[in-house]
Amino acid sequence: LRAVVLAGGLTFEREVSLSSGTQVVEELARVGVDAELRDADAELLPGLAASPADAVFIALHGATGEDGALRAVLDLAGVPYVGSPAAACRLAWDKPAAKSVVRTAGVTTPDWVALPHSTFRELGAGAVLDLIVARLGLPLMVKPASGGSALGAQKVTRVEDLPAAMVSCFAYGDTVLVERFVDGVELALSVVDLGEGPVALPAVEIAPESGVFDYTARYTPGLTEYHAPARVPDDVAARAAEVAVRVHEALGLADLSRTDAIVSADGEVHFLEVNVSPGLTETSMFPMAVEAAGHDLGEVLSTLLTRRAR
Ligand code: DAL
Ligand code: MG
Repeated sequence: LRAVVLAGGLTFEREVSLSSGTQVVEELARVGVDAELRDADAELLPGLAASPADAVFIALHGATGEDGALRAVLDLAGVPYVGSPAAACRLAWDKPAAKSVVRTAGVTTPDWVALPHSTFRELGAGAVLDLIVARLGLPLMVKPASGGSALGAQKVTRVEDLPAAMVSCFAYGDTVLVERFVDGVELALSVVDLGEGPVALPAVEIAPESGVFDYTARYTPGLTEYHAPARVPDDVAARAAEVAVRVHEALGLADLSRTDAIVSADGEVHFLEVNVSPGLTETSMFPMAVEAAGHDLGEVLSTLLTRRAR
């Protein structure tokens, strides 16, 4: 089996992606798969055309890697890849749209409003702030409507801090997602399909030292404690697994995904977002879940590639 691992690209998560891609290549090499790392740059298509790869693994995070654009290009070029199809990625990448779909599928998700930048021009900033607080109360989570690695995401407890938080999010895109803040334990819910349908791996519990699972807490070893499997009661773990598979299916995802969720004190599992290209770095949760399930990451990646290979 020969594989190309796509990583890098020009997104805010370029460094994370290079780190995921490097680990994927190493894991594949360890189980005997001939894998080559390739940057998703202007040479992408000629490079793939000249390559004898049987399938591509997309270790690209953020826009293009996760919004469906790259996958649409690979579809056009007839290159098989591991992961979700373009249209499903487009939906998952749009956090408000994904929340709407999973809520319809019976999954709990924090109440929200999604605000394109133009809303401020149309209604005026004061009216927008009033609308948000009237609808959702405080505290709030403010994040770019599309994005990853918690970039731009902030908790807001005072209405006067809301404008600055929203301005930071507009740096990442045209629409801001404002959600009611849910207090609880953060879980990463990985799903993998090795040929028998989507299966939830053990939940990984996330306990950042600072209390906030931001970019630094994600990628600096030692700043976050992880528990795999999560220290939650069995019924909560079972519900979390059910939520992860339901999200995967409701959005039409394939092969692998990672849903991020919060368990509130009453045991309810609240969907936050889903990643079609979950981080595969040394501090990422998908590899921890694979290990907690008693699987070998290299073997899992190799099986996913073999199933897609031409
Ligand atoms: N967006 C990062 C890579 C993650 O969700 O793991
Ligand atoms: Mg994410």
